[in-house]
Amino acid sequence: DFPITPTLPTKPMIYMTTDQLNMRSKAGVNHPVVGSIPYGKTVTFLEKSSNWYKVQYETTIGWVNSAYLSDKIDPYPKPTVGTKGTYVTSVLIVNKTYSLPSNHNPGVDKWAQQAANAMVSQAEKQGISLTAFSTFRSYSYQQELYNSYVRKHGVVKANRFSAKPGYSEHQTGLAFDFGGNDRSKWLEESFETTREAKWLLANASDYGFILRYPKGKEKITGYMYEPWHYRYLGSDLAKKVKKSGKTLEEYVEININ
Ligand code: DAL
Ligand code: ZN
Repeated sequence: DFPITPTLPTKPMIYMTTDQLNMRSKAGVNHPVVGSIPYGKTVTFLEKSSNWYKVQYETTIGWVNSAYLSDKIDPYPKPTVGTKGTYVTSVLIVNKTYSLPSNHNPGVDKWAQQAANAMVSQAEKQGISLTAFSTFRSYSYQQELYNSYVRKHGVVKANRFSAKPGYSEHQTGLAFDFGGNDRSKWLEESFETTREAKWLLANASDYGFILRYPKGKEKITGYMYEPWHYRYLGSDLAKKVKKSGKTLEEYVEININ
């Protein structure tokens, strides 16, 4: 009798691209480019040669540098056990109605950070210089910020552009404020006229970000137009929300009070 060695069915290994990258005909940068894969796409692993992986993306097969592949393939920030906050159809909602506890202190979401890095580097290649000048904010930092805005502008005005502590989307670690080369336009409505703001508006959803407080939607979102404030949703959902032309509140069908 021969011992039977069972052949286990091998699951195809799937990777996600962490940047836009070229596919080449053979392993190495000197070989011809046979295709290009955008950020955040999934590819199927076929074989490897040192740090180059042969992968299939849609119908194209080619070799890519594995430094730009991640074995975590789902960048959508799903609720997990113990996650604080209100989820509406699996989307974490923080606005003037839905708040976070003061001890919710997750830091920047790693997927959002990775997507922001890929977006900033792709923009750079197109001559667009983006800076994420405000990302995760703790409850206590938001408290200081809000209080200083109230001192400077009064409570009525402050409430139009600053969240009270516990009510800021920045406390989720999923919100990013971006600026361009001209710092005098950071946090100003006039940022919308810059090349950087226009680039963001056109491209951010490909990286999973939506403009959270669009112009003319203050009654729905609770905040004035903020051409700099983007919310990470993962690229699938972000593209759907953008295509719908709706605010996040409208998309998940909720009202602020
Ligand atoms: N500026 C936004 C609304 C915040 O304070 O979170
Ligand atoms: Zn912001």
